[in-house]
This record gives sequence, structure tokens and C-alpha cells, in this order.
Amino acid sequence: MKKALFIFLIFNCISCKVPTNNIDTSQDDKFGNSAQLNIGKSIDSLLSVMTLEEKIGQMNQYSGFWDATGPTPKAGDVAASKYEDLKKGLVGSMLNVKGVKQVKALQKIAVEETRLGIPLIFGFDVIHGFKTISPVPLAESASWDLEAIKKSAQNAAEEAAASGINWTFAPMVDISRDARWGRVMEGAGEDPYLGSKIAIARVKGFQGEDLSSPKTIAACAKHFAAYGFPDAGREYNTVDIGTSTLYNIVFPPFKAATEADVKTFMNAFNILNDIPATGDRFLQRDVLKKSWGFNGFVVSDWGSIGEMVTHGYAGSDKHAAELAVKAGSDMDMESSAYVIELANLVKEGTVKEQLVNDAVRRILRVKFELGLFDDPYRYCNEQHEKNTVGKKAFHQDALDMAKKSIVLLKNENNLLPLKRENQKIALIGALANDKTSPLGNWVLAGENGFAISVLEGLKQYKGNTITYAEGAKVALPNSKLHFTQELDVNETDTSGFLEAITLAKKSDVVVMVLGEHGLQSGEARSRTHIDLPGVQQSLLEEIYKVNKNIVLVLTNGRPLAIPWASEHIPAIVEAWQLGIQSGNAIAQVLYGDYNPSGKLTMTFPKSVGQVPIYYNNKSTGRPDIENRKEVFKSRYIDEANEPLYPFGFGLSYTAFSYKNLKVKTASNREFKISVNLTNTGTVKGKEVAQLYIHDKYASVVRPLRELKGFELVELEPNEIKTLEFTLTEKELGFYNHLGKFVVEPGEFNVFVGGSSNASLTGNFSL
Ligand code: NOJ
Repeated sequence: MKKALFIFLIFNCISCKVPTNNIDTSQDDKFGNSAQLNIGKSIDSLLSVMTLEEKIGQMNQYSGFWDATGPTPKAGDVAASKYEDLKKGLVGSMLNVKGVKQVKALQKIAVEETRLGIPLIFGFDVIHGFKTISPVPLAESASWDLEAIKKSAQNAAEEAAASGINWTFAPMVDISRDARWGRVMEGAGEDPYLGSKIAIARVKGFQGEDLSSPKTIAACAKHFAAYGFPDAGREYNTVDIGTSTLYNIVFPPFKAATEADVKTFMNAFNILNDIPATGDRFLQRDVLKKSWGFNGFVVSDWGSIGEMVTHGYAGSDKHAAELAVKAGSDMDMESSAYVIELANLVKEGTVKEQLVNDAVRRILRVKFELGLFDDPYRYCNEQHEKNTVGKKAFHQDALDMAKKSIVLLKNENNLLPLKRENQKIALIGALANDKTSPLGNWVLAGENGFAISVLEGLKQYKGNTITYAEGAKVALPNSKLHFTQELDVNETDTSGFLEAITLAKKSDVVVMVLGEHGLQSGEARSRTHIDLPGVQQSLLEEIYKVNKNIVLVLTNGRPLAIPWASEHIPAIVEAWQLGIQSGNAIAQVLYGDYNPSGKLTMTFPKSVGQVPIYYNNKSTGRPDIENRKEVFKSRYIDEANEPLYPFGFGLSYTAFSYKNLKVKTASNREFKISVNLTNTGTVKGKEVAQLYIHDKYASVVRPLRELKGFELVELEPNEIKTLEFTLTEKELGFYNHLGKFVVEPGEFNVFVGGSSNASLTGNFSL
């Protein structure tokens, strides 16, 4: 028997084999349960036999030797040397390794060939599904359906776990107000209240009730912090925000994730107050670990420890390693700074070994909780992988999620739903016949060409004739599309216009599928023009000249500025990138088999010049009240202040009315707000009823509106339901300019309705 295996077996029954006397377990006592206590003791025992190098090895994460999700690192990038490090026990985690076969092969080295046989934890970007791709996270957020969002994460976890993965780098809980930033597709939009609820749903979905179940994986709240606020929306750019934004907007979803017991955090590439987040002690030690009591571990972002040198914050990789470990970055993703530099830093006394112990303790705890010490191959059963990955039930859930994510933005003269018979439908746009773009970005285990296209979806409805014309290309077609490739956004080819125009002329209705290719949003896909890429806008206008009966289906990973379409096109459906079942979901909505109920979670601007634009802005001293267009008011001289579509907005094939808002004071610290919601239309439908508050006067200026409650309600025609929302100090308080949570007495306005423009209002005093 190999020595490593022998030692591994000892650790399997570690509580009885390794003495635990005189070991400080105070860190574990606070969890107060015996399982945690046992884990604590096992960790201490293990730590006591680890060399410094082995401890640092646990803090080192390498990317798989065959894939990368970031720039190629300068050290440790040679497969052979990575293998060597692995064998020496100098690697604690791998990312970008997928499939039982590959995972098993590497786990075997860690468990059977290293001195201590400590299992690896396998991380992967399971962002919106694994193999079965569900809608991009921004799309899912538009459902406001927490159960469905949780289910989507749960399925992704089950599928990824069956493929050997134990840890996802999700959810991304970065709030962002800037549609130029490509990564908004990966988040839950602009609002911290909704963002927090969704963060909890996703963490719970991934992690389940029992982390050691082979159906669950550890989650990772990222990117801590403020990565969603890059100046000018340019990826990786400087972040410069104030205390109020940090505490009231950026932190809440991260704090919520911690409260939902998220096991890991990822820090960020950006600086905050001129300090790289990766080297920021205030963020990682003071706020996260101390104030919020987070006991999981923090992984750096890809190469972000080394990048502190490029930022000009560290003089060398060694210095960067010192700053990062002192700041509380526990695991080094692909910088190789810890594995190369940390032992010397400890030996020469620059870094206390206690800091290393603390990081390793956190990492080992998660490995124990995942059950990897009980069975390092618990995620490695090829038969189970075969039976689970791509299961039919996942596809059904992905379809359900996709339908719920669609937002109806405009529907003049009830052009939608489409008539079911005797219609000549022209389907136009390259994205209508695309089976890869709907998968969106972050598709690492999914396969190109696996989505149902809109053309395929619509063809299932047999009563009408569908004829397709590409019209305009969106991006160069390439069957080997990979997310590390940059896609052209400036396509100029108009050679397909004529065919499309001719087709539109002889059709009753034109369905145009336009927008961004799935790889035109996501990481490193910032845009300065957030309109329809390439020549799609011209195509739309040309088609409109010959047939005005246009249903515009938008597929995109960020809000788009489409003022012309909004003014001229009678029906607009926001369909995002909906994943593998995209075409089916869109067809069901267009034909009215599913009544859309999604609501925007990011404001759509009229022009890029309005960005960042968001609903929960503050009053200025000179607000442009009622758009009176007076000089010396806070406004533009060439554009309205109002967005194209506000946060929370979305239509239905039915209509809803809100009436009879009442405020009841349950106690002087708690208020019950009730309203009557009626389905005033002719079909059954779902509505996201939203409650906003305005703290009229406080010690610091408060937003004009803040979302503080919502309910997803389904009503039959003419059905009325009384909804009740509760407001407590938690919702009414805020973080002041010093980052202190305060609840101040005073007057509040409350608004309830179907968007952030809700007009039904009441007030109360705290
Ligand atoms: C960089 C991204 O910022 C992060 O979100 C991702 O998890 C890592 N690369 C790993 O792929």
C-alpha cells in the first residue's frame, strides 16, 4: 500500500487515530455543533502533521492542463511542472477540469501519490447550468421567481457534481448599473434587495441542505468587492465608489450569501479606494471574516495576486503574495505566487505561519464538509455521470426557467400572441437560426450548436407558414466558437437585406430576432455602443419600410439602447440568451401558450450617454421635476432623463390594476402595507407586485425609491387578491456615510405597483 494512501486512511478515522489533546479548537466552538467540532479536531490533527510546504500547497490552485479561463500564467503553466507539483502535494485545488475520467485521474495523484493524500477540491465555472445550459443569470433574474432560480442552481449542481465537480465559481452577486460592462449578463441586475434574495436562492440551490450529498457543490460569492462598478463600464477598470454605495448597494448580496452559509468567496480584479481587492485587508479580514463572521475560504480571481504587481501595488510577486495572504486571500488561483514565494516569506518571518494555518484550516473545512475526506471519489462515478448529465428533467426545468425569464416590453394592438393559423410569417435575423448564441457566455461544459433555435421552436407550430431569411449577420459564424475568442461587433455585410425585404413584403407578420451574439457579452466584452451590433438596426428600419407588423425578439446579455425600435416597432420581446431550450420558450411565448411575466432587473437606457442609469438614484438639489426642461436643472439638453424601460418593468398578455393601498402599523417599528391586485384582462397571468419606499428626510440623502418587497402572484381574469407586505427596521434602516447601520425616525413614502414607476402610494412615520 502506498504511504500516501496509508496516511489518507488514517485521516479517514482521524478523530480516533491522531491525538487531539492540547489543540486550540476555539475557532470551531462557535459553531456549537458536534459535526463541526469533529471537523475542527480533524483539521487540527491534520495541520499538526503538515509541513509548511504542504500547507501552502493547499492554498495553491492550478487550472487544468487543457483549458484556461484567463490569460496564460507566467509560472506553473507547463503541464509537466503542474503534474510535478501535484505529486509533491503542492496543489490543493484544480479548476477547469471536467468529467469523471479527468477528475478521477488527478484526484488519484493527490490521494495516492502525495505524502498525506489530501484530496483536491475541483472548481469550475458552473454559471448557468453545466452541460444543460439554462438562461444567463441576468435573464433568470428577470423571472423574479426565487424558487425557479434556486431549482436552476440545484440542477446545475447535480449535473456538475455527477461530472466530478465539487465547487462552482458562482453566484456572481456583483450589482451593476452599467450596461456597457459585459458581465452584467452574469449577475442579477442593479438592485441590492432583489440581488440579495437571488444570491440566497442560488447559494441554497448549489449547496442544498447537505454539502456532502453527491448532488450538491460548494458555492462561491464573487467578486468581492465592487467589481460591477468599473469606470466607464470598461472591464477590469478602476472602481471609484463612495461608502454609501459600497455598504448599501455592493455589500448586501455578499452579506446575504454569507448568511446563507456560502462556503467560499472570490475576490476581485479591481481596486477599491486605490487598493486591489485581492490585497484589501479591510474587505477580506475586517468586513467579511470579522464583521460578517465568514468561516469559509477566499479564493483569488485568476492571477489577481500576481496582477497586484501590474497594478503598481506590489513590488514583486513575493511582495504580492505577502500582501494577499495578510489581507486574507486564502487560495491563489493561477498566480503561483503562494507556491513559489510563501514558504520563504514565512521562514524569514515576514508572514506569520498562523496566517497560513488559518487559510489552510478554512480550505480543509470545506473539503471535510464536502465529504471529500470520507470518499475523495464521491463525485466520480462514470455510470452516475452518464445517467445524470443532460437528464430530460433538467431540460424541462431549463425550458420552464427560460419562459419565466422572458420580458414583454411592448405589445401594441395585441400583435402578440400570434394568430395560430393562415399566417405567412417571415422570420428574419441570423440569431433566429443560431443554435449556439442562445447558450450565452460561460458555456464551458455545454456544447456549441445544442440550443433549440427560434426557427426550430416556431416550426413546431404547424398552422402558419414560416419562411426564414438571415438578413444580416451578427458575428462571423464559426462552429468552433469558444468563449476566449473575441467576436466582431462591427459586421458590415448587407448582402442579405434584399432577400429579407422581399420576404417581409409578402408576409402577414415579420418576426425579427436581433441582438447580441452570446459571446458579445460576458467577461471582457465591454461595449461603448450598446445598440444592435453590426447592420441589424439598418435591417430593422428597411424591413419596417415594407411591413410594419413586426415582432422584434431581442436576444442579448445586457440592456440595449434601442429607442428607434421602441418608438416604431409594435411588439418587442426581451428574450436574452435563454439557454438550451431558447427556441421552444420563445415560440411558446409568441403563440401565447405561455403568458410572459418577466420584469427587467436592469434599467434600459435611451442612449449610452445616460449610462450608468438606475432607478434607485437620489434627488439632486435641482431635480428636473416633471420634465419641465428649465435651465439650471439636473438634466441633459439633448436627451430626457427617463430611461427607455425602467427597472421592474414588463408587460403581460393580460392587465393588472393596483388599488386600495393601506398602511397598518403593527408596532411602531413594523408596518403592514396591503393592496388589492386585480387581473383586469381576459387571460390568466402572473404579476410581480413590487413595493418601494422613500425615506423622505434623513441624516444622509436617501434614494428616491428603494425596492423593499415583491410578490409573484398568479391570477385568473377578474380575480382579486389582497397582498400584504411587511416593513421592519431591516428594510427601513440604511448604512450611513460611516458604514454604520442606522434606523432613523421620520416620514416614509411607500409605492406599490408593477414597476419602479409604481404610482399607487401611501405614507407612514417611523
Ligand atoms: C476570471 C473570472 O473573473 C472569474 O469569475 C472566474 O471564476 C475565473 N476567471 C475562473 O474561470
